[in-house]
Amino acid sequence: MTTVALIVAAGKGERSGSALPKQFAPLAGRPMVAWSHATLAAHSAVDEVIVVIGAGQEAMLAAALPGARHVTGGARRQDSVRAGLDAAAGADRILIHDAARPFLSPAVIDRLLAALDTHDGAVPVLPVPDTLVSQDGTPVDRAALRRVQTPQAFRAPALARAHGGWQGGEATDDAQMVRAAGGSVALVEGDTMLEKVTYPADFAAAEARVAMETR
Ligand code: C5P
Repeated sequence: MTTVALIVAAGKGERSGSALPKQFAPLAGRPMVAWSHATLAAHSAVDEVIVVIGAGQEAMLAAALPGARHVTGGARRQDSVRAGLDAAAGADRILIHDAARPFLSPAVIDRLLAALDTHDGAVPVLPVPDTLVSQDGTPVDRAALRRVQTPQAFRAPALARAHGGWQGGEATDDAQMVRAAGGSVALVEGDTMLEKVTYPADFAAAEARVAMETR
């Protein structure tokens, strides 16, 4: 069984306020993309890691991760994933991870891959801690909702079918595409360390977390 991990890192990262796109910006002494790359590359079930970068980001990737296999992505996240899938042809299982979530634990990967024994896909989720309302102020039951993280794991044929048949617009993750194609997607326990780094304050929060974890 061949398992390929794709790290999608082709975004512009404009909300981070960083000089470099956020995925290449330093985070606790290491470029952001290098954190999850190291975890995926070291996992015994992962055969290969491919980084999907934007056109013109080759030098930034070479500085962040010398020698890493990479392909060029597209305008939307799903176009970047598609480019990665083309490069991963022949794999049985695909993990798709956002470079914007640096702190990935091997245990999350284990839970996702185990769920593929019984499902077409698996995603890590967390409960919502805040009280929620809709735009008009109507309360929304938070107990019924989950926040979805990456990596997301898929049986490769189900993922290929989902991307090939997608009729929707911009998709923020791959699980919604697999579900739309009739695939089954398991929800497994996520990890608070996997939070997405998006805004300038997220960098400081992420660095504080690393400092706390490694104390
Ligand atoms: O913009 P957002 O934070 O939702 O992007 C999620 C992930 O998808 C990021 O790691 C980003 O680099 C990646 N992405 C991509 N290609 C795009 C847009 C986003 O690889 N066209």
